[in-house]
Amino acid sequence: MAFSIAPLPYAKNTLNGFLSEQTLTFHHDKHFQAYIDTTNKLVAGTADEGKSLTDLIKTAQGPLFNNAAQAFNHEFYFNCISPQPLQVPAGLKAALESAFGSVDSFLEKFTQSAAGNFGSGWTWLVNSAEGLKIVNTSNAGNPLTLGQSPLLTVDVWEHAYYLDFQNRRPDYLKSFVAHINWDFVAGNLT
Ligand SMILES: [Fe+2]
Repeated sequence: MAFSIAPLPYAKNTLNGFLSEQTLTFHHDKHFQAYIDTTNKLVAGTADEGKSLTDLIKTAQGPLFNNAAQAFNHEFYFNCISPQPLQVPAGLKAALESAFGSVDSFLEKFTQSAAGNFGSGWTWLVNSAEGLKIVNTSNAGNPLTLGQSPLLTVDVWEHAYYLDFQNRRPDYLKSFVAHINWDFVAGNLT
């Protein structure tokens, strides 16, 4: 069964002021779709056909890893965004306070880490053997390869924000953290 693209969990015109309909059209319908299509082409007729994206991320190398990880990362990223501001659920709030002192302190560290993630990549909140932590990956990198469970991610490839923010990655990040789908993040912690 070939992979198919997950539809955006919100309408493309509901993030105005953060991400435009144009950005979401290119990012979801073109970039994300291309990673799905290329993954399907690369596994077709091979021993990898039928494996899940997470299995491919943990075992594949080169172009198959890059495309399978980008397919996973984009679905995860779009799920991390909410058009409406949401409260941080109590259990997640307590976990963030334990690891980072406060939710605001976590957001400040997460934003700093993402602003400093050189080039193209992803910044993650993960659950690991050492508890919650912030991890930067480059290109298609995914924390599953490090034995860590992703809870939250932000895409810092320029294609994620250039049409709306040009080179102003810190402004994109400031808007991103105001649109986090905390219910999705909390669901990943359980
Ligand atoms: Fe992207």
